[in-house]
Amino acid sequence: MRTEHAPTIHRADYAPLAWTVARIDLHFALAPQATVVTSRLACVRNPDAAPGPIVLDGEELETLALTVDGLDPAPGTVRRTESRIEIDVADRDEVALEIVTRINPQANTALSGLYLSRGGYFTQCEAEGFRRITWFPDRPDVMARFTVTLEGDKAACPVLLSNGNLVEEGELPDGRHYARWEDPFPKPCYLFALVAADLVALERRELTASGREVLLQVWVEKGNLDRAGHAMESLVHAMRWDEETFGLELDLDRFMIVAVSDFNMGAMENKGLNIFNAKYVLAKPDTATDVDYEHIESVVAHEYFHNWTGNRVTCRDWFQLTLKEGLTVFRDQQFSADMLACAAGAEGGSSARAVKRIDDVRVLRSAQFPEDAGPMAHPIRPESYQEINNFYTATVYEKGAEVIRMLHTLLGPEGFRNGMDLYFSYHDGQAVTCDDFVNAMAEANGRDLDQFMRWYGQAGTPRLRAQGEWNGADGSYTLTLSQSTQPTPGQPDKLPLVIPVAVGLIGPDGADLPLQLEGEHQPGATTRVLELATETRQWRFTNLAAEPAPSLLRGFSAPVILELDEDDGRLAFRMAHDSDACNRWDAAQRYAERVLLQLAADAAAGRALKVPAPFIDAFGKLLRNELLDPAFRAQALALPGEAYLLERMEPADPAALRAAQLHVGAELGRVLAADWLALAESLVEPGEYRYHPADAGGRALVNLALRYLCAARVDAGVALAAARFDSATNMTDRFGALAALMHGAVPAAEAALAAFYRRYQNDTLVLDKWFALQAGAWRRDAAAAPVLAQVRELLADPAFSPSNPNKVYALLGSFFRANPGEFHLADGSGYEFWAEQVIALDAANPQVAARMARALENWRRFTPALQAAIRPQLERVLAADGLSPDVTEIVEKALA
Ligand code: PHE
Ligand code: ZN
Repeated sequence: MRTEHAPTIHRADYAPLAWTVARIDLHFALAPQATVVTSRLACVRNPDAAPGPIVLDGEELETLALTVDGLDPAPGTVRRTESRIEIDVADRDEVALEIVTRINPQANTALSGLYLSRGGYFTQCEAEGFRRITWFPDRPDVMARFTVTLEGDKAACPVLLSNGNLVEEGELPDGRHYARWEDPFPKPCYLFALVAADLVALERRELTASGREVLLQVWVEKGNLDRAGHAMESLVHAMRWDEETFGLELDLDRFMIVAVSDFNMGAMENKGLNIFNAKYVLAKPDTATDVDYEHIESVVAHEYFHNWTGNRVTCRDWFQLTLKEGLTVFRDQQFSADMLACAAGAEGGSSARAVKRIDDVRVLRSAQFPEDAGPMAHPIRPESYQEINNFYTATVYEKGAEVIRMLHTLLGPEGFRNGMDLYFSYHDGQAVTCDDFVNAMAEANGRDLDQFMRWYGQAGTPRLRAQGEWNGADGSYTLTLSQSTQPTPGQPDKLPLVIPVAVGLIGPDGADLPLQLEGEHQPGATTRVLELATETRQWRFTNLAAEPAPSLLRGFSAPVILELDEDDGRLAFRMAHDSDACNRWDAAQRYAERVLLQLAADAAAGRALKVPAPFIDAFGKLLRNELLDPAFRAQALALPGEAYLLERMEPADPAALRAAQLHVGAELGRVLAADWLALAESLVEPGEYRYHPADAGGRALVNLALRYLCAARVDAGVALAAARFDSATNMTDRFGALAALMHGAVPAAEAALAAFYRRYQNDTLVLDKWFALQAGAWRRDAAAAPVLAQVRELLADPAFSPSNPNKVYALLGSFFRANPGEFHLADGSGYEFWAEQVIALDAANPQVAARMARALENWRRFTPALQAAIRPQLERVLAADGLSPDVTEIVEKALA
């Protein structure tokens, strides 16, 4: 059927290379279609490895010359295939190679290696892009010192950047110029970068904690300088935070961030030269929402934090990816929580932290839980892969961060910090494994973490079953916790994990009870962390005056699915009283999930839909509770996401679920209309826009109110949304109002959408929002044209471009992944469109295509009728000529 089978690579097969590279001197003669790369390698024999040839990787390279110690290689000593060169070297421990290759940046539509974007040259080398630039042992355990000379046209590329320090620059004949950069730190080639483009920089000088002056630059296209300030602020905050929290200082004299329009991922932590998807750099109030500002802050921090967790200490091989990603995500989550808490001040600090935690939990549940339950399920440290690009996953990143968070919970902040210090003291400058990290944590804390390591090897989301038994006679409460994990592909049997379960017990008056475990002499704190390390275990709480309501997994203390039988009344009670904001939110989510899934079942069976009054009542109480921070209320009043609900539905029936969601949303809008209106009107707009959590919370809550009001088509609400759209002075308000109008599919939506387009037609990042909104639209009128028709039409819009990943994610990603109710059409036309688009995208950019392909990986969870329509489309994709290893792996695993 297919042309090519990608081999499977196994973690167990790791072996060090016989030869590594100590130094590399690169010279680039830049030209759009024929860039000549001259590479001089100082290769050294690896004393720790079995003897063997020098091995180099390459991909799509035109090789112009190769010499060994300045000479043509002796006959028979070089073996070369399309993707590999082996060179035999006898009787020496050091060899100088010189290799000249020619590459075509303009033809590089995969955006991996050296490519062009809007006339400038940019690189992306993680994971295996460097081999598309020159022959090199392209793996992270080869750490070399880099010197880089760039030579290019001065008019087209006035700015020439690479890693480290600028050591020389000058003019050349024919309108060309050059710059030479030296990176003092040895690094794996995936951290190499260059930029040659027409850019300008926002600059700032800062002192590090030890008093060194460093130059910070944010490079953007001319005309975008007024959008670079927030990224710069974020960078400075991240620097300070890492100094204060982990004692980690910037180690370079210069740190650069560059924004590029065409980029597959969010951003990349190249040493001293971070390259960013422009969407995570550029912001001003008129073009970016509060959420955009938040994302920029956390991505800037994430990439900056990689300088220590990723760059100074890197991964031995790509199976260890979570070593840098899980840890760095955890660090950026803590940073964002601290920033929010700091802005909220003493009083609002803990609520602000919870809001951030809830955001992270939402992402985990809606993106990672489904992954862990499907054909792509893998441990945070995978055992095998076909295409490493497919393993930049929610599991490696988000679940990986949860695993680090559990260590932080188990060891405490100080113990965790001690472990980090020990990790750096042992491994600075090395390429290491996840075991090395956990061993440092264990040693620094005198704690055995062998069983904890199972989190690195076992896939699947554990189920945590909780049962409580109240004994009124002696005032004790017995809590039984048990764990189990379903089989995942290749892992039929699961072992018990170490699960930290933060527990509180709520008294009948709603207040937390002091916790006293059997055998203790006095009650202690009101939240305690229990460690479940066996299949099942009991704890007995004593000295209780009345039957408590358990509040389990507070702060979402472990990435598990909690199963606890609570009736509606109990959920409403916890919605009103749980002192743990995360669990209070979770109680609302559980209640809403119960209602939505019941109504979905009713819809599927053709029964009338009715929202239970007690639910609306509990919901209304949260809505009216002015003691609660608006940002928290906005979280608690938002219904669970569609992807998460589909995961909980057996079988997944997107049409029925959509019917339920439409109905519940409209009912909550209609019945609580007066409250929503009062709320939207009472939260007065603070003066001039500033990105501040307190203001952002208010804006989020108003936008949510508009959404419910428009869903219910409450006239006054629709009028308010339209007025706010017209008078908005910032993107958060403007886009929130537009989204509400669209969501309600009210007549005013169309004009607003057109006005939005006119206003921003030259602003490509804002147009991404315009595409996403339409692709994610919900139909309220069965007679209206399906969203699919609109998506097809938008493909032809002059502002759309299939070669720009952001556009693809905005239009197709929003449709396939964020709009199941419209994508999963009964006639299968959505799937046909999906196959056609995946095949077309794959020819140009496999990574982007593979991401879109993943939209159907969990197809076996859907109704039999939908499955029958999906299967032939999966097969059609798999049969496509020249399908990439990326998409092949996804579709093969889905069909397996
Ligand atoms: N390493 C990047 C990050 O997490 C993500 C990335 C991976 C970017 C692969 C590009 C290519 O910060
Ligand atoms: Zn990262």
